[in-house]
Amino acid sequence: MSAIKSSIPTRRFDAVIIGAGGSGMRASLQLAEAGLNVAVLSKVFPTRSHTVAAQGGIGASLGNMSEDNWYWHMFDTVKGSDYLGDQDAIEFMCREAPKVVYELEHFGMPFDRNPDGTIYQRPFGGHTANFGEKPVQRACAAADRTGHAMLHTLYQRNVRAKTHFFVEWMAIDLVRDADGDVVGVVALEMETGEAMILQAKTTVFATGGAGRIWAASTNAFINTGDGMGMAARAGLPLEDMEFWQFHPTGVAGAGVLITEGVRGEGGILINSEGERFMERYAPTLKDLAPRDFVSRSMDQEIKEGRGCGPKKDHVLLDLRHIGADTIRKRLPSILEIGHKFANVDATKEPIPVVPTIHYQMGGIPTNIHGQVVAPKNGSQEIVRGLYAIGECACVSVHGANRLGTNSLLDLLVFGRAAGNHIVASKLEDQSHKDLPENPADMAMSRLAHLESSTGSERVQDVANDIRKTMQHYCGVFRTQELLDQGTKEIMQLDERRKHISYKDKSKVFNTARIEALELDNLIETAKATIVSAAARKESRGAHAHRDFEKRDDENWMKHSLWYSEGNRLDYKPVVTKPLTVETFKPKARTF
Ligand code: FUM
Repeated sequence: MSAIKSSIPTRRFDAVIIGAGGSGMRASLQLAEAGLNVAVLSKVFPTRSHTVAAQGGIGASLGNMSEDNWYWHMFDTVKGSDYLGDQDAIEFMCREAPKVVYELEHFGMPFDRNPDGTIYQRPFGGHTANFGEKPVQRACAAADRTGHAMLHTLYQRNVRAKTHFFVEWMAIDLVRDADGDVVGVVALEMETGEAMILQAKTTVFATGGAGRIWAASTNAFINTGDGMGMAARAGLPLEDMEFWQFHPTGVAGAGVLITEGVRGEGGILINSEGERFMERYAPTLKDLAPRDFVSRSMDQEIKEGRGCGPKKDHVLLDLRHIGADTIRKRLPSILEIGHKFANVDATKEPIPVVPTIHYQMGGIPTNIHGQVVAPKNGSQEIVRGLYAIGECACVSVHGANRLGTNSLLDLLVFGRAAGNHIVASKLEDQSHKDLPENPADMAMSRLAHLESSTGSERVQDVANDIRKTMQHYCGVFRTQELLDQGTKEIMQLDERRKHISYKDKSKVFNTARIEALELDNLIETAKATIVSAAARKESRGAHAHRDFEKRDDENWMKHSLWYSEGNRLDYKPVVTKPLTVETFKPKARTF
C-alpha cells in the first residue's frame, strides 16, 4: 500500500472543515478572521447546504415582543428534551443565544423588523414565558427563509475573510495516527474523481444529518450521514441515535417542510371533523406544543379514523384566517410550496400535512467546545484533532426531542464555540503531526472495492430498501417486534451493500460512485439508529415505544453510545448539573 501513499497528493491546512452549512461556515469564519489557513469542503455549492432549507427562525430570548430571558429558554429546552439533554450544554447555548443573533445581525443578516426597528420574533412550539405559563415569541425570523438568509450572510462574510472553499468535494475517511489523533482527511474531488489527503492540525465535522435514511424526509438529498459514517468507521461512537424528530407538518405525499412558523403565526391543525384536535391533547400550548407531542397526536387522530382525504391518511393545516396579506408578508415560501407541492392556494384552502422525518437529535459525541469525546479506560477522553458541530454532533442540547428554532441556534453557538476554541489553541504555533505510514488505506480500499466489484446489487435498490425498512420499522410509534425485525432487515441490507456494483467505472463526475460511497454512510447511520432504538426500553421524547409507554428515569436517564465494530452499545450518564443554576428535575411533560 505504500505505493498508494505516494500516488495521492497531499495539501496542508491549519484546519479542515467538512461541510459548508451554518455550523461549518460559522466556525470557518472565526478561524479565517483569526488568520488561520482554513479549508472548507462541501459536496455542493456552500449556499446550497441544507441549512438553506430552514424556515421558521433562530431561538433567542431577545425579549423584543414581550418579556423573556435565557433561563426560561433553558427550562423549555430541558423540558422539550424530555430531560435527556445535558443541562450544562443547554445553559451555555441559551445564554449565548442573544449574542450570536446580534452578531449575525451585524454581519448583515436581513431579519424581519418590528416597527421600532428591533428584530421580529414569532412564537414556536414549546417556547414559553415563565416556565411554561404561556407561549412566548422567541424565534428571530427572516420571513420563512431564515436559513437561506443566514447561509448567504455567512458565505459572504467567509468570502471576505478569505476562507478557502473546496466546492463539490466529498470527504471519504478520516486519517488517524498511531496515538489515535486525527491528522486529516482523505477527500475526493467529484469533478475529476481524484483523491487527495488534506493534512490538518484540526479537522472539524460539520456534515449535517442523515435524514436520507428515511423514505419520507424534509432533508436534502445530500444528507447522507457522511460525518457519522466516517466517525463510525474510525472506531468512534455515535450517541443517542434512537432519537429522530418527526416534524408535524411535511406536505402529505411530498415530504417538503411547512414551517412551524405557520402555527406560530396562528395556523391550526384540523381533523376530518373540522376539529382543532390539539386543544384536547395540549390544552395550554395547543398547536404549539413540542414536535414529538404534536406528531404523536396527529398520528393518533389518523389511526382513530379522523384523518382527511380519500385515504384518511393526513390532517389539514389551516391558515386561511391569518389573512392573505400576513401570509404573503410573513410566509411567502409556504404560499409557493402549497401551490407547487399540494396544489392548493393556502390563502383559500388548508394544506394536507403528515409528520415527516426532519432532524436527528443524536450524533458524534462532543463537549461544549465541539471537541469529540469518546470513552477510554473508563473516562470520557478528547479525540485530539477532531471537532464536530451542528446536526452531526451530539453535545447534547436536544436530548430526546429538539425544540424548533434551536437547530439554527445550535449551529451558530457551537460553530462559534468550536471556532473560538481552535483559535485559542494557537494552531499557528504548532507543526503538523506526521501522517501515518499508509494514511489513505481505508479510503483507497473502499474505492478499489467499488472499482473491482462485479456484484449484482444496485446502489439505488439498497438505498431505497434502507429507507423503506427504517420508515416501516422505526416510525412515530415503535414496538419491540417491529424494532427487532427491522434490525434484522437492516443487517441483511448491510450484507447486500457489500455486493453493489455500477456499470460506469469512469472517475469523472461519476455520481454513481459518489452515491455508492454515501451508501456506506447511510447504512452506518441506519444501524446505529435501529440498534439503539431496539435497546431502549422506555418512551422518551421522539422515541415512543408501545411496549414501554412510560419514561423510565430510574433506568434510562442515560445516553446511548453505538459502535459499528461489533454493532455494540454502551451508555453514559446525562449531565443533570447546569453550569451556574439549579438542576431542572424531571417532571411529567404536559403542555
Ligand atoms: O418549522 C421550521 O421552520 C423548522 C425549524 C426547525 O427545525 O428549527
